[in-house]
Amino acid sequence: ALSPIAEQNGFRLEAFETIGSTNAVALERAQAGDPGKLWIVSKKQASGRGRRGRAWSSPEGNLAASLLLTGNLELKSAATLGFVAGLSLADALNAVCPSANFSVGIDGASNAGAGKSPLRVELKWPNDLLAGGAKLAGILLESTLMADGHLAVVIGIGVNVVAYPQDVPYPATSLARLGANCDAETVFLALSDAWEENYRIWANGRGLSDIRKRWLSQAAGIGSEVAVRIDGAVLRGIFETIDEDCQFVIRDNDGVRQKIAAGDVHFGTV
Ligand code: BTN
Repeated sequence: ALSPIAEQNGFRLEAFETIGSTNAVALERAQAGDPGKLWIVSKKQASGRGRRGRAWSSPEGNLAASLLLTGNLELKSAATLGFVAGLSLADALNAVCPSANFSVGIDGASNAGAGKSPLRVELKWPNDLLAGGAKLAGILLESTLMADGHLAVVIGIGVNVVAYPQDVPYPATSLARLGANCDAETVFLALSDAWEENYRIWANGRGLSDIRKRWLSQAAGIGSEVAVRIDGAVLRGIFETIDEDCQFVIRDNDGVRQKIAAGDVHFGTV
């Protein structure tokens, strides 16, 4: 088991048995002047937070982890850290869950087929991980201004390891359901290794283009029809790429390229 306070790849680590939300605690640490490079992990969360004010279910056995970064971050480049996290989580799952069949479809049937190599996890813009079209993990980026005027960014990562929610308006899945016998701690350790490596690449100036390229090579729905819900409005078109700032780029029905900074993507015509 993880000890309550430890060091992990040059990051400090605080491990809880239970917590309200690892993101909320990481933000509190930032408010209290924490120097950052801190992981907060918990076996379960009582009030896990999802994107856009939604709740995130975090029963024991699933992974709930938040990373606090502070320092000379700008909001625009901080937003791209969610992509570093998504890519790192994909790297980690592909590395430690070789027994998982990431192509088990949402109806439970495998669509790998004889002779076809199994699918790997897919990244769904902005920061979800999908397996067989169903949501396996979510990432929530939050930020706050510290007393010294610096920006603090919290990257919260939730993985459905043993359980997945049934009461959500989208298909969801878990590692257990995919037949992977790896636990939350194993996933976390692999995530922390992959994060360390990808963050180093991101931080060295031109590194974002490498992150972006690898992200795009695993992107769900690229080249296909999407509907993006942005507050009240819906924008439809073909998902072309993500730009240098990781914004979602679609070609709308009038052939015009549109860039979207935040929204909910639905595949197909909704
Ligand atoms: C989403 O897909 O809506 C994002 C889900 C993010 C969940 C994680 S679990 C660890 C961290 N703490 C939270 O309260 N939320 C994030």
